[in-house]
Amino acid sequence: MKSLAPESLLVSAGRPESPGQPLNRPMSPASNYLLGAGKVYAREHGAESWTALEEVVGGLEGGTAVSFASGMAAVAAVFDQVPSGGEVVLPADCYQGVASLAAEGEKKGRWSVSRLPTDHTDAWIAALETADLAWVETPSNPQLILADLAALAAAPRKPGAVLAVDNTFATPLNQRPLALGADFSVHSATKYLGGHSDLLCGLVVSVDPARHEALVRSRTLQGTVPGTLESFLAARGVRTLAVRMERAQANALHLARFLEGHPAVAVVRYPGLESHPQHALAKAQFPAFGAIIAIEVNGGAAAAEVACRATHLVRHATSLGSVESSWERRAVYGGQEHVPPGLVRLSVGIEAVADLQADLDQALRSAVAPD
Ligand SMILES: Cc1ncc(COP(=O)(O)O)c(C=O)c1O
Repeated sequence: MKSLAPESLLVSAGRPESPGQPLNRPMSPASNYLLGAGKVYAREHGAESWTALEEVVGGLEGGTAVSFASGMAAVAAVFDQVPSGGEVVLPADCYQGVASLAAEGEKKGRWSVSRLPTDHTDAWIAALETADLAWVETPSNPQLILADLAALAAAPRKPGAVLAVDNTFATPLNQRPLALGADFSVHSATKYLGGHSDLLCGLVVSVDPARHEALVRSRTLQGTVPGTLESFLAARGVRTLAVRMERAQANALHLARFLEGHPAVAVVRYPGLESHPQHALAKAQFPAFGAIIAIEVNGGAAAAEVACRATHLVRHATSLGSVESSWERRAVYGGQEHVPPGLVRLSVGIEAVADLQADLDQALRSAVAPD
């Protein structure tokens, strides 16, 4: 059969093939196996629900996937590959958990860390000559800054060095880092892949068998394995990724345009808007622009807090990538001095867009209304 489109692969990969088997790989809660047939212990040899998830996401990304207990467990397995005393390069704007993990390692003398603006392509290309791990997050969390990933992946890097891409925001439907030449594509499957705010899970996908083995070894030794239920739910969530993304992205583009014209909103960042400073790059590298919008409300942090608490349909909650829309002010979490205090990250879900627009409108108007 000719190679399948991603929408078909999402639905069909990772299923049993033999007659009489169930259509879905079963959830089989067991820590150990009867001896004599290869599998011994689930921390090392896994569960069928891991296999389903890994086959689907590996197929989509064009590599071999390893699933983990959370996105951060997946991130940590990549950092585990940095040689002692190595050099790590991180984006100035990236998920705070990754920045904290890198800073902790630096404090303990494990590696050194430097940070570069995501969009300073020449600086990244220069850094790739000496870095042991270049960690790229594009679009970035929460400011939606883009890296020119094709340029970074094509640039020469030190032998043995790793270019890892956090592909959580883009999903494999909008961006395939391995096809461009990156070594690892990393996901918090807690977000879009799972898609229902009901699990924690992570994945790292790679092409090189030695790198894959190193990830598996790291997972086995550190015990950062996904739960049987969580991987089953994540595999089920992935089946609908394409339709969820299509709806959420259409909603996001509509809402970004609406918010741009809203009297209570000072700034809207969304790669699909002509006003995004890297809109041309976004159009060149993505088939669609994702479903995260960052806004700044007139009246700064205080007004942003009022707005976030005033929605009904849009939940006031952290995290992103689920069927339900949610928003929160990001600077409430420490260690993100570069994030504007009033910046609100909106994760757009799959509700009716008119309802979302009405809910956001009333909340924003209540936040900036004169007393
Ligand atoms: C871009 C990005 N990467 C990684 C993570 C970590 O994932 P998890 O919360 O599943 O550990 C997050 C969490 O918000 C994230 O937004």
